[in-house]
Amino acid sequence: MTAKKIIDTYIAFFTKRGHIQISSASLIPQNDPTTLFTSSGMQPLVSYLLGEPHPQGKRLTNVQNCFRAADIDEVGDNRHTTFFRMLGNWSLGDYFKKEQLLWFFEFLTKKDTGLGIDPSRLYVSVFAGLKDIPKDEESAAIWGDLFESVNINPNGRIFFCGVDDNWWSRSGAPNHMPSGEPGGPDSEVYFDLDPSRGTLGTSFRKLSDSGRLLEIGNSVFMQYQKQQDGSFKKLPQQNVDFGAGLERLLMVLEGANDMFQTSLFTSIIRIIEVKTERSYKNHTQEMRIVADHLTASVFMIANGISPSNKEQGYVLRRLIRRGIDSMHALQGEITEPVIEAIIQTYQETDPLLVSSYERIKLALLDEQSFYVQTLKSAQKIITKKYRTIGTELKGQKEISSEDAFILYTTHGLAPTQIKSLGFVFDEKAFAEKMKAHQSLSRTRASQKFAGGLADQREKTIMGHTATHLLHQAIRDLLGNQVHQTGSNITNERVRFDFSYDKTLTAEQLTHIESIVNGVIARNLPVYCEVMPLQKAKQIGAIGLFDEKYTDKVNVYFIGKNPSYSIEFCGGPHVDFTDKLKSFKIVRQENLGKNQKRIYATVGN
Ligand code: ALA
Repeated sequence: MTAKKIIDTYIAFFTKRGHIQISSASLIPQNDPTTLFTSSGMQPLVSYLLGEPHPQGKRLTNVQNCFRAADIDEVGDNRHTTFFRMLGNWSLGDYFKKEQLLWFFEFLTKKDTGLGIDPSRLYVSVFAGLKDIPKDEESAAIWGDLFESVNINPNGRIFFCGVDDNWWSRSGAPNHMPSGEPGGPDSEVYFDLDPSRGTLGTSFRKLSDSGRLLEIGNSVFMQYQKQQDGSFKKLPQQNVDFGAGLERLLMVLEGANDMFQTSLFTSIIRIIEVKTERSYKNHTQEMRIVADHLTASVFMIANGISPSNKEQGYVLRRLIRRGIDSMHALQGEITEPVIEAIIQTYQETDPLLVSSYERIKLALLDEQSFYVQTLKSAQKIITKKYRTIGTELKGQKEISSEDAFILYTTHGLAPTQIKSLGFVFDEKAFAEKMKAHQSLSRTRASQKFAGGLADQREKTIMGHTATHLLHQAIRDLLGNQVHQTGSNITNERVRFDFSYDKTLTAEQLTHIESIVNGVIARNLPVYCEVMPLQKAKQIGAIGLFDEKYTDKVNVYFIGKNPSYSIEFCGGPHVDFTDKLKSFKIVRQENLGKNQKRIYATVGN
């Protein structure tokens, strides 16, 4: 069974059970300043899990492209990737544990409508309880019945685990969750990759960590919200948030012990082997890193990110450079055939890759030349510096940890990359400097990301309406080819990214500001209509929202007959534009060649 067939089977299974298929959202979260990337299918749905009605109803399903930066150092083993696709289904206050566990079990094991996996290879975990949140006896009993229904003794199949394993929220265990965050107990399903080693006994957790057990699906019973005093309150509705890793299901179905040897990766690995004239068998780790990092980079670029020294762009730069390092270790480099193999693998499910091919290719190849140049000039600068102070760098070229750190902060070179230039330095001292640097950036980041649209404070909502006006004003002045590529709104300021290749002049910025202030002064009404996607497109709605499968979307209008702005959006917004009082652009930034960023304030 191919990845595409698994997706089709899953979507058919859940649409048959009343779910509406929604699109995969962009890898760059829209109006969610709490995170840089979409890393789970529920992320674009948070407001609906908290109780906002979804335009498509209470049962949703999709396949979501995800990126998990936290896994970057794990890539190289048999099962971790930074980019992956998550099969998801949701109940927004509709069905709950009984239906969810039954359906997932049927999807996994049924031969005609599901994947036909042998149920004797399955093990499950459920929540062991915490203070006022009870042990999940209900899920354990449902699993017991399900195993019995296929004549499997449930003893030794169902494991109770604590908050570190069987609780899910965007920020992990309950004590890590910020107030307002939704979460809940979950139930995970594992597949035994090596049943010949006998029953599990009591070593369930050890075996799942050691690689014998592979987690293939997680049903989160999202029914709690963290309160300011640290306690948990029930949400107004009981939700199900389910996610399964497509790549892992493919491993199971193809009987592979290595994700990179499934059909999803064969042509990518093969072309790396051919181009580097090396074998996967002897260079497994490097080839896995190249395959994963370049795949993630291809998707990021298609979603509008360019390599830079900031936020998403910085993560992309790191991925590409790590990919190039591994290519260099294989005496190779990124070439078009490798990029083409990735695009071919995903083109059926992600046609955006095909239409973005030129941009993807340019961004990767440009970054590669830039990186090679950076390595050369870093080497030159350091060698020259040591020569000037009378120390010839020969053989073991020992440099100070300060200089190594300068190479890191100014040239973006990681310790391994500095070492690859032949330099040696005190790595412990370097790590200490790094720790101090990271804790400073974390403080800055948490200040920057404090608040945001998720908090729904008054200024944040005003800022959100201001981005719609700004988006339209930029198009008024620069043309309709210009479009939003991201936004991040906090209580303090609005940040808006858009595609444009030139730096805006001071006059242009003043002009945009005065257009926005003009619309604010007209006191236009702001209102939402739910309508068919086709109609929204016909009336010229703009925005990043791209629903492919569903027919109804939320559209926000500013002004009536005619409207000044029409945009796909989930809200919330102010009701009249004069609530914004005034709009001021504070600065502009370059985010790489084709992207600009504007910071602005409202309400002063
Ligand atoms: N949101 C859950 C997860 O990512 C399903 O595991």
